[in-house]
Amino acid sequence: MDFELTDLQRETQRLVREFAARELIPHARKLDEEHSFPHEVVKKLAELSLLGVAVPEEWGGAGLDNVAYALAIEELSRGDASVGVIASVNNSLYCDPILKFGNEVQKREWLVPFARGEKLGCFGLTEPEAGSDAAAQKTTAVRKGDGYLINGSKNWITNGPVADAIMLFTMTDRAAGHRGISAFVVPTSTPGFNRAHPDRKMGISAALSCSIFFEDMVVPAKNLLGKEGDGFKIAMSTLDGGRIGIAAQAIGIARAAFEEALRYAQDRKTFGQPIANHQAIQFMLADMATEIDAARLLTLKAALLKDQGVRHSPESAMAKLYASEMASRVANKGLQIHGGQGYSKEFDAERHVRDARITEIYEGTSEIQRIVISSSLLKE
Ligand code: CAA
Repeated sequence: MDFELTDLQRETQRLVREFAARELIPHARKLDEEHSFPHEVVKKLAELSLLGVAVPEEWGGAGLDNVAYALAIEELSRGDASVGVIASVNNSLYCDPILKFGNEVQKREWLVPFARGEKLGCFGLTEPEAGSDAAAQKTTAVRKGDGYLINGSKNWITNGPVADAIMLFTMTDRAAGHRGISAFVVPTSTPGFNRAHPDRKMGISAALSCSIFFEDMVVPAKNLLGKEGDGFKIAMSTLDGGRIGIAAQAIGIARAAFEEALRYAQDRKTFGQPIANHQAIQFMLADMATEIDAARLLTLKAALLKDQGVRHSPESAMAKLYASEMASRVANKGLQIHGGQGYSKEFDAERHVRDARITEIYEGTSEIQRIVISSSLLKE
């Protein structure tokens, strides 16, 4: 077993860490307060090839591996959790399924500009009555001549308010259940594609999401990804990759909480000495550092398996489950170490608590991850 990163992975980590320190950390609080999408930052992510990290260069990406990808998302999220998920959705949930299931023409049209970061993608699986039960889709796509007529709605679509295309899951055969779901790539400029106002959320406020309504939207048959009925498996295998991105995001948030608490504990004095001299604080810091490292090991293991082309559903679920719950624990301890200051908007500790919380919910709740893990245990 080799725990050493390659030169390229280490270089990616260094480059993104420096970028986050320079371009993200100084602005994260303001963007959070204003709920404003970081358009300028996204342009810079594109310049650094961070919107198609594991996409081969021939398809517009950086041509790196998924370990480098996870490290990059961790560093972005250490700077700003909203930026972490904006990048993760484009990389994992939009580009990855086209790379894996798209034909040459689809890759040229729908992957290259998005992996280059000239355009931004989103992922439309969740519906008002189909969140955890992803097979209970109600949006329909009915074959009409050379295309499909799509009606229905999606909600909580991260990047939805600004995206140029959506990876959209619809029912093409209701009677077939999950085997009747099909995936389409749809430009958001298509007539009948309507977005609601951005959602008001507890955290990751600069990563905008919204509901989307499809009203008699006609999509050419060439936009079908894979075959009719492949959609559920495309969605599930895409989420196996996406959950690595969210685990990495959670680690980045936890690192921010930890690093700030570590610094604060050495500055702040009580009873005549820095609080870092009190064992109660030392034990909290020790637990935080240990949990962050454990989460990173799980996450890089899942990324490595993805790079090896091995199915990694339970490993991704374990990484996402542990990293997300860890991030909430660590962010809460970070706030506690800051005492009253931690509850104040003058510090970032409270933002990390709010940002961490979503990682336990999206791309499959902790309960869904436990289902994925236990069903793989019971199959063995
Ligand atoms: N890869 C490939 N195929 C898979 C798969 C995977 N990871 N997981 C399941 N499948 C296949 C199964 O083999 C099975 O195939 P057959 O039809 O050949 O038998 C089929 O899919 C159905 O599998 P299950 O019976 O296990 O499916 P299920 O209906 O019981 O659901 C579930 C399983 C794990 C609960 C799933 O519904 C799930 O993951 N739900 C959560 C959905 C989710 O994560 N939503 C997040 C939305 S995206 C988001 O949050 C984005 C954002 O904004 C950031």
